[in-house]
Amino acid sequence: MFDTDGPVAEEIAGLWWFLLVLGTIVFVAFAMALAVAVRRGRASDEGREPSSRSLRRWVIGGGAVLPAVVLVLVLVVTVASMRALPADAPTEALRVEVVGHRWWYEIRYPDHGVVTANELHLPVDRPIELALSSDDVIHSFWVPALGGKLDMLPDRTNTLILQADEVGEHRTSCAEFCGLQHARMRLLTIVETDGDFDNWVAANRASAEEPGDPAAARGQDVYFDAGCASCHTVRGTQSVGTEGPDLTHLASRRTLGAVTLELTNDNLRAWIADPHTFKSGIEMPATELTDEEMDALLAYLDGLR
Ligand code: CUA
Repeated sequence: MFDTDGPVAEEIAGLWWFLLVLGTIVFVAFAMALAVAVRRGRASDEGREPSSRSLRRWVIGGGAVLPAVVLVLVLVVTVASMRALPADAPTEALRVEVVGHRWWYEIRYPDHGVVTANELHLPVDRPIELALSSDDVIHSFWVPALGGKLDMLPDRTNTLILQADEVGEHRTSCAEFCGLQHARMRLLTIVETDGDFDNWVAANRASAEEPGDPAAARGQDVYFDAGCASCHTVRGTQSVGTEGPDLTHLASRRTLGAVTLELTNDNLRAWIADPHTFKSGIEMPATELTDEEMDALLAYLDGLR
């Protein structure tokens, strides 16, 4: 959160530093006053009593005036920060819907017709309007470098406006305890140039291509026979399940199981055979396939680019 990327994160980090410095000054002043009081107390045991006027000054000054000044200062600076943060998204903002599920992120770009999972692609230097919600329990969206942290609630949509100023990646995770695999509800945020983002949108907007060879075609049959289609969507096919992540462009993603594993052929094979080895408690069941079926299924999934 100190390695900030973008105006929102900078504003929030600036406020945090102000609070830390002010809090440190108050703490040190208090500790010094306490040390002096302890020494004076010892001295008064030897007969030197402070006057009631001096006592009153300490109680009113240190107990009422000083806290009031400090709290008003905190209020003024906090409100100024809140006003500096955008309340409404500018018209050129990119709207992205992020829906929390136990335990993965559904990510939608409604203006572009793109649906993906666990990989948030953002163009650099452009305001982003994130519409956050949840399909089940309360999750929390937080990419510390981009600033802002907001609950993802099942019964309403929260809006978070952000902007990233540097091309790069951020790996983060859900910030509100949401059950067994809360810690493996991770998100990969990829901030990229306008050109790269446009290419990504163009590639991910399209429906899935038809299987390119006999092995992949056989794999598509396995996909439907094994029941994958009842939970997953592959756009352009009869597979329209909504329980699990959209797989239309699975092979173009970098990770598996909400950034639990890197997406490699071996990892995908082991994941399909029994995902609970890596992430117990998730809804996806283990799948019993022969080696031939598994090879074909992987060939099909590898074609979903
Ligand atoms: Cu979702 Cu913790």
